[in-house]
Amino acid sequence: MDFKSFKIRAEKKIEEIRNLKELDEIWRKYLGKKGEITQILGSLKDLAKEKRAKIGKEANLLKNFLNGKIEERKKEIKAEIEKGREKRELIDITFPGKKIETGHLHPLTLIRRKVEEIFESMGFSVIEGPHIETEWYNFDALNIPKDHPARDLWDTFWLKEKIGAQKLLLRTHTSPVQVRYMEKNNPPFRIIVPGRVFRHEASDASHDMQFYQVEGLMVDKDISVADFKGVTQEFLNRFFNKKVKTRLRPGFFPFTEPSFEIDIQCFICNGKGCSTCGQVGWIELCPGGMVHPNVFKAAGLNPKEWQGFAFGLGFDRLVMMKYKINDIRLLYSGDLRFLKQF
Ligand code: FA5
Repeated sequence: MDFKSFKIRAEKKIEEIRNLKELDEIWRKYLGKKGEITQILGSLKDLAKEKRAKIGKEANLLKNFLNGKIEERKKEIKAEIEKGREKRELIDITFPGKKIETGHLHPLTLIRRKVEEIFESMGFSVIEGPHIETEWYNFDALNIPKDHPARDLWDTFWLKEKIGAQKLLLRTHTSPVQVRYMEKNNPPFRIIVPGRVFRHEASDASHDMQFYQVEGLMVDKDISVADFKGVTQEFLNRFFNKKVKTRLRPGFFPFTEPSFEIDIQCFICNGKGCSTCGQVGWIELCPGGMVHPNVFKAAGLNPKEWQGFAFGLGFDRLVMMKYKINDIRLLYSGDLRFLKQF
C-alpha cells in the first residue's frame, strides 16, 4: 500500500467535507471497526517480522494523522454551524415594529354603556330580562289579551315548546320586564332594561327583525307626565351633548294611559327629510306613557297607591342618530369596513 498517496487523498477528502454526518461516514470508512486502516492494522500478524514493524509504524502514523484531521475538521464544521445560527438570530433593533391589531367595542355596546351611565347618574338601576318570554308577560300582563288587535303590531317568532299551558315566544319588546320587576320589588324604584328584541318584520333602512330597546320604568307615589318629559329630555340632551329638538305626540299603547311618542328631529337631514326618517324630518325614538292601572294589577300592585311612567327607547335608532348611520342593517352586517370606523 502506498501510504503517502493514501494520506494525500484522504486529507483532501476530509477537507472537502461540509457536514458532520459525512465526516462520521469517512471516519468509519478509514478508522471504524471495518475501516481500511483498521483492517491493515488487523492483518499485521500475518506479515513477516521486518515488514510488520515497517507497515505497522506507517499505518499507526496514518491512523493518528487521520484521527487528528477528522477531529480538526469537526471543530471547524461546528464553528461554521454556530456562526450561521448567530446570523439567523440576529435582531435588528432599528427595524420598524409590527403593529398588533386590537379589537374594539361594537357601536351598540359603546352606546349601551353610555346610556346606562347617564341613567345610573339619575338614580336608575340596570336590569335584565329573558329573550324567550311567555305569552303572559309579553302580552296579557301588559293589558293585551288574546284577541286584542295590538298583538298584530308585535308579530314575532313563536317557539314549539311550552311552559305548562304558556306559549313561548321571542320577546317583541322589553316591556315584559316591567311586570317581572314589579312582581318582585316594592316601589319606589327607577329601572332601565336594555336588551335585544325580535319581530317578524320586513327589514329596511330603519327596521330590522332583531334590534335593541331600552325600557325605562319609574314608580312612586306622585309621578306625572312632567317627570316623564323631564327625565327623557334630560337624557337626550346629555346623550347628544346638546339641546335636542323633541316633540311629544299622542300615541297608543295598551299598557300606558295616556300614551305618547317622543320624536327627535332627524340628525341625518336636520329635519329636511331623508330615507332614514322616511322623508318626514322626525324620527320616532321613544314611545312611552303613564303605567296603565291593569299593568299594576297584573304585577300585584295597587294602582290607587302607585303611579309611574314607562318608555321603550328604540336603541338602534339612537345609535344611528349619534353616529349618523343611515341604515340599521349595517349594525348587524359584521362588515369590517363599517365596524373599523368606531
Ligand atoms: C314598543 O315596543 C313598546 N314596548 C314601547 C313602550 C314601552 C311604550 C313602555 C310605552 C311604555 P314600539 O313597537 O313602537 O313600542 O317600539 C319602540 C321603539 O323601538 C320604536 O320607537 C323604534 O324606535 C324601535 N323599533 C320598533 N320596531 C323596530 C324595528 N323593526 N327595527 C328597529 N327599531 C325598531
